[in-house]
Amino acid sequence: MARILITSAIPYINGIKHLGNLVGSQLPADLFARYMRARGHEVMFICATDEHGTPAELAAAKAGKPVADYCAEMHEVQAEIARGFRLSFDHFGRSSSQRNHQLTQHFAGALDAAGLIQEVSEKQVFSIDDNRFLPDRYITGTCPNCGNTSARGDQCEECTKQLDPTDLINPRSSISGSTNLEVRETKHLYLRQRSLRGKLESWIDSKTDWPILTTSIAKKWLNDGDGLQDRGITRDLHWGIPVKKGDQPWPGMEGKVFYVWFDAPIEYIAGTAEWADAHGLPDAAWERWWRTDKGAADVTYYQFMGKDNVPFHTLSFPATIIGSGEPWKLVDYLKSFNYLNYDGGQFSTSKGRGVFMDQALSILPADYWRWWLLSHAPESADSEFTWENFQISVNKDLADVLGNLVSRVTKFATSKFGSTIPAAGEFGPQETALIADLGSRIKDYAQLMEAMEVRKAANELRAIWVIGNEYLQSAAPWTVVKTDPDRAQAMIRLALNLIRVYAILSRPFIPDAAATMMAAMGSDDWSWPDTISEAMRALPAGHGFAVPENLFRKITDEERADWQQKFSGVRD
Ligand code: 2FM
Ligand code: ZN
Repeated sequence: MARILITSAIPYINGIKHLGNLVGSQLPADLFARYMRARGHEVMFICATDEHGTPAELAAAKAGKPVADYCAEMHEVQAEIARGFRLSFDHFGRSSSQRNHQLTQHFAGALDAAGLIQEVSEKQVFSIDDNRFLPDRYITGTCPNCGNTSARGDQCEECTKQLDPTDLINPRSSISGSTNLEVRETKHLYLRQRSLRGKLESWIDSKTDWPILTTSIAKKWLNDGDGLQDRGITRDLHWGIPVKKGDQPWPGMEGKVFYVWFDAPIEYIAGTAEWADAHGLPDAAWERWWRTDKGAADVTYYQFMGKDNVPFHTLSFPATIIGSGEPWKLVDYLKSFNYLNYDGGQFSTSKGRGVFMDQALSILPADYWRWWLLSHAPESADSEFTWENFQISVNKDLADVLGNLVSRVTKFATSKFGSTIPAAGEFGPQETALIADLGSRIKDYAQLMEAMEVRKAANELRAIWVIGNEYLQSAAPWTVVKTDPDRAQAMIRLALNLIRVYAILSRPFIPDAAATMMAAMGSDDWSWPDTISEAMRALPAGHGFAVPENLFRKITDEERADWQQKFSGVRD
């Protein structure tokens, strides 16, 4: 039994995520966690909400709520939706937790002790009426180049000219509109990442099994001229983790907080500590996942994320870990994803374009979405959600292939032989052939799941469902029963066992349908079918079963057209 640590990129607190966000991190991480548990491994699967930074502050202000209250509410909203999608986190933490405060301050102190922190003085725009420094993009004014009156401090969106806030004519705060602004001197902490370049490079070079998408992004950032810059890890904001060295004050840094991207990945560790706290366990319980001097040396650590997050996880976060000089676990395998597009364009949170997680669950159960998203995961390239494609996948793969098999077999069996597994007849050559085929396909499926080849694994699972259907098609117990009822009983005994095996294999993708199938087979034996000939005989003659509720319904053309229309528009 191996010990597997899995983290998904932690979603920002402001707003509900769309399906593109889901398929790029949380959902494939869940697939992998469920699979690894199914194989009997000890799994720790952590996610959280990413609660700091200006966007969280502004979203709270827009909602008219104190930021801490806003975050607490939105965390619950996201947690509820995650439960709706059956994301099987061991803990869904919060980057604003006390654990993350302590650990973030601890890492900053350790980096300082290692001589890796430098204080830098900068000039920044301060809004007197807002009582805060303004990041460049929160300053609006007239573009000196084209006259656009709502150019942002970092760039004019009309003429695309890169700007400095001091270039703007009539600058004002984008938050309050106030023009009562001044330039103030402010001090920040920088992490001297450049001095860790050699260590980071040899660490990345040692990861020869990483996906090309991951290493190519990491290498690009490492080698491009301005790739690995020393980076500011503090901000002049009110909301965030106060800058301290461990539990000691940091002279000159009073009133400042750590940059959101400094504390967010540390929440992976803190989230595991939150898990231990929630279960009343001692520190040793989470440290054995993270500290190589305290039991984590035999842990394999997997991260899942969209490609935009890769630089932070291959360079910045490892710089924090390596730079601390302490024996923390570094990621062993980093699975990254391209983007999912939506119906001829992009998903857009700001424009409200596409299907958001809450909307998805309001129209169809989680399994429908999980199946489509995972079987179309944007691995080797970007992929696209279209309603036509979604309808075809659901109606064919789920309803026609899997759902139909389960319903046909259980109904036929009940009507002809009653509600226990029929005893007569023996397996013949057709059954033997199916069992052999299943055995080799299950091995392929397992290999793909282990390699996190999400689409290919989905294809293999579909193929496993298809060979069951083909078997029934050609064995045709509904015909054979008329001339040789014993043969038909053997076929049905096999088919009912097949349903249980399908439940086990399908569970990481479609956990609810799998649970329904298993319950209908009157079993809760989820052990992996390592020896397929035994697994196909696990439910003995006389064992009770039931006809389950219809597993999947079809999507009609009217619904498809209706949803396509409904989700093309703008959401607040
Ligand atoms: O892109 C995002 O949604 C970020 N909130 C991901 C952070 S992942 C990590 F650093 F914790
Ligand atoms: Zn302009």
